[in-house]
Amino acid sequence: MAEAAHSPRVFSGIQPSGNLHLGNYLGALKRFAETQETGVQSIYCVVDLHAVTVWQDPDALRHATRELTAGFIASGLDPERSILFNQSQVPEHTQMAWVFNCVARMGWMKRMTQFKDKAGKHAEQASLGLFAYPALMAADILVYHATHVPVGEDQKQHLELTQEIARKFNHDFGVEFFPITEPVIEGAATRVMSLRDGGKKMSKSDPSDMSRINLTDDADTIAKKIRKAKTDPEPLPETLKELDTRPEARNLVNIYAALAGQSAEAVLAEMGGRPFSEFKPLLADLAVAQLAPISTEMGRLMQDVAEIDRILARGAERAREIAAPILRDTYRIMGMVGA
Ligand code: AMP
Ligand code: TRP
Repeated sequence: MAEAAHSPRVFSGIQPSGNLHLGNYLGALKRFAETQETGVQSIYCVVDLHAVTVWQDPDALRHATRELTAGFIASGLDPERSILFNQSQVPEHTQMAWVFNCVARMGWMKRMTQFKDKAGKHAEQASLGLFAYPALMAADILVYHATHVPVGEDQKQHLELTQEIARKFNHDFGVEFFPITEPVIEGAATRVMSLRDGGKKMSKSDPSDMSRINLTDDADTIAKKIRKAKTDPEPLPETLKELDTRPEARNLVNIYAALAGQSAEAVLAEMGGRPFSEFKPLLADLAVAQLAPISTEMGRLMQDVAEIDRILARGAERAREIAAPILRDTYRIMGMVGA
């Protein structure tokens, strides 16, 4: 049963909690579609069970699950070549999560900064699920023996915990069963910042809609948000170093780079010396050219929710074919009779 080497397999997940934005697109969706082109087996999950760690209105959750699925497909993910499904249709995730609840230590979980951020001052009122969230995330990944997980910078700590869980399980049972999964945090836009405050992450929960570009925004709205994005009075510099003290300018350059598929250095080599009054319209054109077709396609796909549901069900079936034997092996290693 011991596996010496694990063949490459990519897994990633996004919560269906509404307001898909440019950060999700550049930090996640766009890169998922690119990964698919490398030919590595890729599994993408709409993590509805993670979403309900905080209250979700049932109708809104249903809508957000389908809309996110449409967002994946509109961003270039092919549900035939990759596997695309929602988490609750594959019960092996929660079964594996229980195992990991028993592997992870309280001390490890208490160090998770996302819990502290999300629970805030009301940790006593937070759900037990919110606390256990990273163990379910480790299960999402390891129930497929995934070797690589593309995510944004904010998920790094959870990936380290996933590695710790895999190491402890392997060590405790004397096996080389779970891979030590690598986070893949790459590209110019692993941390897209708010358009209103270069010190804050672009986020679906920001009360100001002007702070983010939503994937459902139309062309005029996208252009307006970029025009009004906060900047400073200086023109663009020639070198990246000079952006260190200019977070808003750096963010717009990074966004341009990620949309254009260039490095930030290359963008500055071309744009250095130009004022924002020239750069912003170019950025707006680029953003509209890339995002408007995605939003149109999402709208089209959402006209036929039965088809979206069929795609998710088929994806779940394919996912289970991989997850079920890995869960069974896990149980067997642990001494569960009947596995
Ligand atoms: P979330 O919507 O928080 O579940 O995030 C879904 C995916 O998008 C994860 O891979 C995040 O790391 C990524 N992501 C979220 N916000 C940003 C951002 N502002 N910049 C880059 N990536 C992001
Ligand atoms: N925690 C991730 C986020 O908030 C979502 C997620 C759940 C995930 N399970 C995952 C990401 C597994 C990568 C792999 O963005």
